[in-house]
This record gives sequence, structure tokens and C-alpha cells, in this order.
Amino acid sequence: MVMFIAGGVIAGLSGAVLVGFIGVWAPATWLYPETIVLFAALIVGGRGNNLGALLGALLVPVGFEEVTRFLPQVGPPGLIPAMQWVAIGLLIIGFLWFRPRGTLPERRRVFADPPPAGAPNQSGANSTHRVAPEEEGCADRSRPLLAAEGVERRFEGLRAVDGVSIEVFPGRITGLIGPNGAGKSTLLAVLAGTLPASAGRILLGGADVTRLPAYQRAQRGLVRTFQLSSEFAQLTVLENLLVAVPRHRGDSLAGALRGRSYWWADERPAVLRARALLARFGMSAQESEYGGTLSGGQKKLLEIMRALMLGPRALLLDEPMAGVHPSLVEEIAACVESLRDEGLAILMVEHELSMVDRLCDPVIVMAQGQVIGRGSMPVLRRQREIVDAYLAG
Ligand SMILES: Nc1ncnc2c1ncn2[C@@H]1O[C@H](COP(=O)(O)OP(=O)(O)OP(=O)(O)O)[C@@H](O)[C@H]1O
Ligand SMILES: [Mg+2]
Repeated sequence: MVMFIAGGVIAGLSGAVLVGFIGVWAPATWLYPETIVLFAALIVGGRGNNLGALLGALLVPVGFEEVTRFLPQVGPPGLIPAMQWVAIGLLIIGFLWFRPRGTLPERRRVFADPPPAGAPNQSGANSTHRVAPEEEGCADRSRPLLAAEGVERRFEGLRAVDGVSIEVFPGRITGLIGPNGAGKSTLLAVLAGTLPASAGRILLGGADVTRLPAYQRAQRGLVRTFQLSSEFAQLTVLENLLVAVPRHRGDSLAGALRGRSYWWADERPAVLRARALLARFGMSAQESEYGGTLSGGQKKLLEIMRALMLGPRALLLDEPMAGVHPSLVEEIAACVESLRDEGLAILMVEHELSMVDRLCDPVIVMAQGQVIGRGSMPVLRRQREIVDAYLAG
């Protein structure tokens, strides 16, 4: 947000300086060609980096608008300006086709500085490190870490979540199943704080977190993933993980402006932790690839790893295996199992019942915003109304 505002201020000041030069300005003077020239400058120069934008700003307006003024007059009047637009059009097509990232492409940030061999482990520096905070190892697994009490979420007249009470225990994967529109994702959103509850209470480790915003719940160890992967397509895999690091000194505009020496001390352990997660989940080779180029399954894994960067105690997974190639489903399942074995409390929405059979105990069944059954899958399969409502499909 601060960056958007800073960008807007710079753009506004640039406009003010420009008007100082040209003397007069009105929206009507901003015509279609001006917009085309700006787009062409970015496409030719290179999106996403300052040097590319600068080069484009020199090449396109200067090269095509100013230089043509000095060409000898040939053909009927207006031919050269018309040809100039044809040339810019061809240039745009040519770049988009052959060099879509422009003359000076955005440079991927490749993190050097691997941990020296034999160096003592920093936070997360080995590939078998635990994800959950230390105290989770001795967490009381007989007490729920996360609990919802009579939680409701209404959208106008619709009760998407209607008086739901559930408990999620450490060291277990609690399944959440139900037909489309049952309210599963809405419940996860309310638990994580991305949607406020209309009524009811949410307890994390016994403390009432109902009124806390999502980021404060995340700081206390309650983190969710999304049904639709939400990676940053233009950031590398490692950067995607680093954005999740809480309380990073470079997070603020002032901190970022103070330079690398100010925030590097925070970033180094975060890089090591991210690398440890990548190694653990078999994605080290993709460290410097753009998030947008990953397969569906890799994006789901990235989503889980990003949640793990926060060192959660409770993890809410929304269909982590949906739409994933079968070869990666097994890896994601093994990843979730290993997190359970470390003592994380996991609540997982899943439609693939064979996976629920294998991973989840207990299982909660929702329909029309309400819990209609709970227990182990074999027990649920013996309950007629649940089979009719969901399992038969
Ligand atoms: N932001 C919203 N505004 C209005 N209605 C919503 C909103 N989000 C969800 N709903 C409605 O709430 C109900 C529950 O939706 P939800 O996405 O939680 O279902 P779900 O169980 O996750 O379904 P699926 O298995 O298809 O993901 C649906 O009827 C949906 O249309
Ligand atoms: Mg859903």
C-alpha cells in the first residue's frame, strides 16, 4: 500500500513538472497515441525494472517521434507520421512475439550466499528441521489447539456457516468434507481471520482470537492456504517464500530505503529457512524460477511452504491436492503427513475421499453451513444420512 501511494505521489509530481514545461494541460490533450507510446516504451525497454523503463522511454518517444521530424519530406503530407505509427505497431508485435520481456528484461533475483559447509545451523538451516515451534513438541495432544464455538458467517441472508463448533488437535489431520457450497472454505476463512465471524468464538491454544485480524492470528501460529493458489507470478519461488516472513526490517518503506545493510540481518536466516523448506519438499531446483511458471501441484506445495515460513502451530489447508497431477499428489500427501507427525494441528478440506480415508482422523462433514457428522471415516460411512448427503456421490 505504501509503495502504491509512493508511486502515485511520484507520478503526480512528474505530471506537475511536465505541466510546468508545456504550460497548459487538459485531459483532452491526452490522446490515444500517447498511451500507445507509453506501452510501447515499456514493452520495448523491458517491464518490471527501472533500467528497462528508462531505455524504453529514450528509444520509443525519442527514436520514433523526435527523429522522424528530421527525415526529408517524401510522399504526400502525413505519410511519415502515419508510417511512424505503423512502425511502432510492428515494433510492439515483434517484441511481444520474439522478446516479450523487452530489451533489458527484469533480472531475476538469484540469491547467492549458500550456508558454508559445516557451518553451524541457523534457523531452518538443515533440511530435516522442524517446522513447528519448539514448544509444539511437547504440546498436549489431548487438548484442542484450535476450536470454533457456534461460529456463524452470514452473507446478506445466506448463512454460509451456521453455528459450527469444531475442535482441531495437535498431531492430527482433521478432515473437513462436504458438497460444493457447504461452507468449508468460508469456515476456514473465518477461522484464519480473513473473514470476520458474524457470531461465535474462535479459540487458539485456549485464547480467544475471534476479534484478531488474520495477520495477528498468523503471528500466533494460525495460518491458512487458499483453495486457488495465490502465488506471486512475477516473483521467484524463493522470493514467494520470503514475502511471508513476519516482522522483516525491510517491510516498511523507511526500512527498505535504509538499504541492504539494515535489513540483511533479517533476511539471511529467512533465506536459510526457505531453502531448508525447499530441500525438504523437493523443490530446491525451482528456487530461482518464477512462481507463475510452476505446475499446479508445485504451486500448491509453494502455498504450503509459504504458510510454513511462519512457523505455524495450526495449519488450515483448503483442497491442497485439487487439480494436482497424480505424480505430485503423493508428495503433497507425504508432506502433510510429516507435518502432522511433527505435531502440527491440521484442518484439511478435501474432496478426494481416498485421501481423506488415508490421512484424516477425525473427519467433519458439513452441508448447508452446518456440521452434519463427525468421526472416523469408517464410522461416517455407516451413517445413512451422511452417505446420502455426500459420501454416495
Ligand atoms: N464472499 C461471498 N459473498 C457471498 N456469498 C458467498 C461468499 N463466499 C461464499 N459464499 C457462499 O457461501 C456458500 C459457501 O461457500 P464456500 O465457498 O464456503 O463453499 P465450499 O464448501 O468451500 O464449496 P467448494 O467445495 O465448492 O469449495 C456458497 O453458497 C457460496 O456461494
Ligand atoms: Mg471451497
